[in-house]
Order: sequence, then structure tokens, then C-alpha cells
Amino acid sequence: MCKVIAIANQKGGVGKTTTCVNLGIGLAREGKRVLLIEADAQGSMAASLGIQEPDELEVTLVTIMEKVINDEDVEPNEGIIWHDEGIAFIPANIELAGLETALVNVMSREMILKQYLDTVKTEYDYILIDCMPSLGMITINALVASDYVLIPVEAAYLPVKGLQQLIKTIGRVHRKLNPQLSILLVSLPSRDYGRSEVLSAIIMLCVSLKSLDPLHTLIKSPNVPVK
Ligand SMILES: Nc1ncnc2c1ncn2[C@@H]1O[C@H](COP(=O)(O)OP(=O)(O)OP(=O)(O)O)[C@@H](O)[C@H]1O
Ligand SMILES: [Mg+2]
Repeated sequence: MCKVIAIANQKGGVGKTTTCVNLGIGLAREGKRVLLIEADAQGSMAASLGIQEPDELEVTLVTIMEKVINDEDVEPNEGIIWHDEGIAFIPANIELAGLETALVNVMSREMILKQYLDTVKTEYDYILIDCMPSLGMITINALVASDYVLIPVEAAYLPVKGLQQLIKTIGRVHRKLNPQLSILLVSLPSRDYGRSEVLSAIIMLCVSLKSLDPLHTLIKSPNVPVK
């Protein structure tokens, strides 16, 4: 069954796009059918997959979400680009910022991406969503559409403080819109593995969110036991 994973953190530059692209390509190399969705107006994922001018793309995630909003059919494979690495992806560009604003007046605005993904899930083993560095309506759409949220985080004091807001938002989405949602993994850049106090704080933060049960949290550190 297809697993949908949002890669999210409202802090910028923590490795969301890098994680999404590399995890996707790694899964494809294992023989999995993988779709990457860029839920970020910056177009960084498109750029890292070789699209030099994402803002000039005619069909993007925006085209697809607008069709869902207007109850129009999305053609099979519409907007999907196949990459030599064996992954499919749907890019985004600056137009996604405009769509985010327009979503305010849309009925069931949190469910638009889920409605689309539900129609393509049978085609893939994994769908990975690269979120933008904010907790706005597009990121909420990604969380509502996902089974898991993967949070790349830097093991330092301020990033962990910022994580509280993200965990709260995930909890709210879990309670009100998507009871399936779990935190899958908090991944940490290898240079931070030694900071066990910060890692403990992250674990406690996740565990304190009682509404996430079961909470699948794996901290990749040799120093911190995961209970
Ligand atoms: N594990 C890593 N080790 C070293 N550098 C990394 C690692 N992961 C990402 N980077 C570098 O950090 C920078 C930011 O990464 P990336 O664009 O993936 O972050 P992001 O969270 O997607 O940013 P944004 O919030 O702007 O979307 C890039 O230059 C990337 O090459
Ligand atoms: Mg990014």
C-alpha cells in the first residue's frame, strides 16, 4: 500500500528538499515506485532535478490543485515528469504562493492535495512531499494528505524551540483532520550526533504530544536510547 510522507519543518534550509530528493532516489533504486511532490513555491526541488527555470513551467502542482478546486478531471500523468533516476515528480513554482492565498475562500481547503493524491496512490509505493518553510495552508494540505511526517531538524537550542510550533500543528492536524498522521523520523545531520541533551529534548517534545499515538519516532543517534 502506498505510503505518503511529508517532509516538513517551518525552519528554512534544514535539508527538507535534499532529504526528499535523496530518499526518493534511494527508494527508486530499491525498486519502489516513487512520486515526489514539490509543495514549495521556491521551486528548489524542480531545480535540483534539472529544471533550470521552474517559474516558466506551464503545468505544475498549481495546475493540478486548481483543477481539483474547480471539480475538473486531472488527466492521468498530467503534470508528472519522469526523471532518469527512475522517479516521477510534480514540480512547483512561484504560482504556488498565489494559490496559497486563494485557498482562503475554497471549500475544504485543507483537503485539496489529499483529494488529488487519493486518485494516484495506486500507481506508487511512496509519495514524498517536499514542504515549504512555513506552516501555511499548503503545508497543512501536505500534512492532511500524509501518513507520516518526517522532520529534518538541526540539533541545537533554537531549532528545537521552533520545533514546538511544528509539533503543535501536527497534533492539531492529527486531532481534527487526519488521525492517521504519525511522526516517522526526526533526522539529524551527522555532525550533530553527539549532542545527546538536545536529542533528548526532541524526543521528549515528540512524546509529550500524547495525541500522536502510536508515535513512530526514530532518532538516528548512537547515544540516545529510544523508548
Ligand atoms: N545532510 C546534509 N549535510 C550537509 N549539507 C546539507 C545536508 N542536507 C542539506 N544540505 C545542504 O543544506 C542546504 C539547504 O538544504 P535544502 O535546500 O535541502 O533545505 P530546505 O529545508 O529544503 O530549505 P528550504 O526551507 O529553503 O526549502 C543545501 O545547500 C544543501 O545542499
Ligand atoms: Mg526546500
